[in-house]
Amino acid sequence: MSEDYVIIEEGKARIRVPNPLKYLRPDMVYEPAWAPVFYNPAQTLNRDASVIVLSALLSTQSFEKPVRVADPFSGTGVRAVRYAIEVPGVDEVYANDLDPKAFELIQENIRMNKVQDRIKVFRGDANAILYMLKSLGYSFVFVDIDPYGTPAPYIDAGIWSLRNNGVLAATATDTAPLSGSKYLAGSRRYDVKLLPNDIGTEVGLRVLLGFIARRGATRDRAITPLLSFYSGHYYRVFVKISRGATKASEVLSNQIRYLLICDKCGFRTFTSRVREEETCSFCGGPIKLIGPLWGGKLINDSFLKILKDMLNEFSYLQTRNKLAKLLELLENELTELPAYNIITLAKFLKTNIPPVKTVLDCLRGAGYKASRTHLAPQYIRSDADQEALLKCITR
Ligand SMILES: C[S@@+](CC[C@H](N)C(=O)[O-])C[C@H]1O[C@@H](n2cnc3c(N)ncnc32)[C@H](O)[C@@H]1O
Repeated sequence: MSEDYVIIEEGKARIRVPNPLKYLRPDMVYEPAWAPVFYNPAQTLNRDASVIVLSALLSTQSFEKPVRVADPFSGTGVRAVRYAIEVPGVDEVYANDLDPKAFELIQENIRMNKVQDRIKVFRGDANAILYMLKSLGYSFVFVDIDPYGTPAPYIDAGIWSLRNNGVLAATATDTAPLSGSKYLAGSRRYDVKLLPNDIGTEVGLRVLLGFIARRGATRDRAITPLLSFYSGHYYRVFVKISRGATKASEVLSNQIRYLLICDKCGFRTFTSRVREEETCSFCGGPIKLIGPLWGGKLINDSFLKILKDMLNEFSYLQTRNKLAKLLELLENELTELPAYNIITLAKFLKTNIPPVKTVLDCLRGAGYKASRTHLAPQYIRSDADQEALLKCITR
């Protein structure tokens, strides 16, 4: 008879988690949602990234003491423990979970890692706890919104409980609604107009960031995305939140856009003007309008450089090599431009799908900027016009 709980190591933490062997699907894959307390080893990259982002934040910016971090969806407490023991400069962590079994397990894991004096544990609804702490004068430099599915209902409380220039981290696992494949759910949750499209992961990331920017603006907060990515089954964003009505208005007018996509020829552009009835300026086909969404950069260049350097100090991270690869891809990605799907472009031309490298070389050779994306192997970004793009598909 196997044990109900086992002890695993993640980062520098030892964590008691439900025994994965007890929650196997018929295909023998572990299903974390079936366990009494949620722990998903497939999210280690998400947690490792969070540890380096928080370390980079605290190494580049000074905050008044005590430096507090909130982990309001703590599960086993793995993030809370890791922030306390792996990130220099963190004074206090506030962990919380609604579930009584999680509440017990968080406390056990805190004792096992001997950080009882630096982590406070709560059991309640994340919104209620964050608003309560804020009303008592406790605000945070980093708030980690890591719920099941959509983070949308918790974004307001997360933003509100941050100190000026603190970071809101959010995970979204509702990838089908966000990408537009379950567009009714996505439109409803994120207060946007969504439709199925050929660059789902790009649309999902931008809808999530756009939602955070618009919610921030309602409270005179401006956002700066520091690091945003898609990884297999979730989106993760780290966004700096700054106070200021003027800055918040600037973000809305300069970074919030609509995406126009022509399904026929693959033309697309960001626009600030809503023109529902428009036809494609290139081929005359029907145009799809998606948004409002984030039309700016998905990363901050100087912060990304700091993260890359920071990785050297975190050689013990289990996902270090994967993270290094992700950061490298993001560094070279022209994230200020919308993504194209070369399959759509080839389909329009009724030609074979060319290798991405050939297309990129062709575009660069013609004097345009062009890059891969971290989102999908068949996506590219370029500032080339539609005619030049199509020319490089047939090369
Ligand atoms: C995805 S799991 C968190 C995983 C954890 N952060 C980790 O990295 O291992 C979501 C957790 O949020 C808890 N939860 C769900 N709704 C909540 C709410 N409204 N307030 C607080 N906790 C909630 C669940 O009990 C669950 O433990």
